Amino acid sequence: MKFFVDTADIAEIAELNETGLLDGVTTNPSLVAKTGKDFVSTIKEICKIVKGPVSAEVTATDHATMLAEGRKLAALATNVAVKVPLTVDGLKTCKALSDDGIMVNVTLCFSAAQAILAAKAGATFISPFVGRLDDIGQDGMQLIADIVQIYNNYPDFKTEVLVASIRHPIHLIESAKIGADVATLPPNVLKGLVKHPLTDKGLEAFLADWKKTGQSILDK
Ligand code: E4P
Repeated sequence: MKFFVDTADIAEIAELNETGLLDGVTTNPSLVAKTGKDFVSTIKEICKIVKGPVSAEVTATDHATMLAEGRKLAALATNVAVKVPLTVDGLKTCKALSDDGIMVNVTLCFSAAQAILAAKAGATFISPFVGRLDDIGQDGMQLIADIVQIYNNYPDFKTEVLVASIRHPIHLIESAKIGADVATLPPNVLKGLVKHPLTDKGLEAFLADWKKTGQSILDK
């Protein structure tokens, strides 16, 4: 399973990249606005830090302008994945960009029917938003299960299921059990995955006992 980080914060991305656990980055206009920084230079910088796909979203809503924006974003670095919304114009743009060999992430997916359209349009990634579905009392994880099942029925669908709008570790674990290809995690969720009180307690006890031996591994 690939791990992407869901942020446009360059310092966070650089720190998490050091762990060797990062396979890519997703950004969206809200995440970019939160940084207060220039979009194009931010994407260029992120693409230098992380070698995997970096999603950069178009902001036009009509096909012609989306296509122009998508081509401009794709020219910033070879690892840019152009993000387009799940609209008719977005799907047309997805098809045109993927026909040109450009990676496309189709975002704002809330139904299995939409995911089928994205696969038919040649999307590299489909981004179903689990947290936002849960927020309105629908089962976000059931959508992931449905999309994975449908895509598995059609080997000619090459689109990877990228679970988005993840809010907590259970979303990640359930996505992995279902077999989703990618999870994009907010930095706090990604950092929190390592934590367990019994790990901390166990390590503390091991180190206290080790100290009593008076030994050092490096001194041997
Ligand atoms: C990722 O591509 C999405 O933009 C993101 O996961 C949305 O998350 P949110 O619902 O927490 O804003």
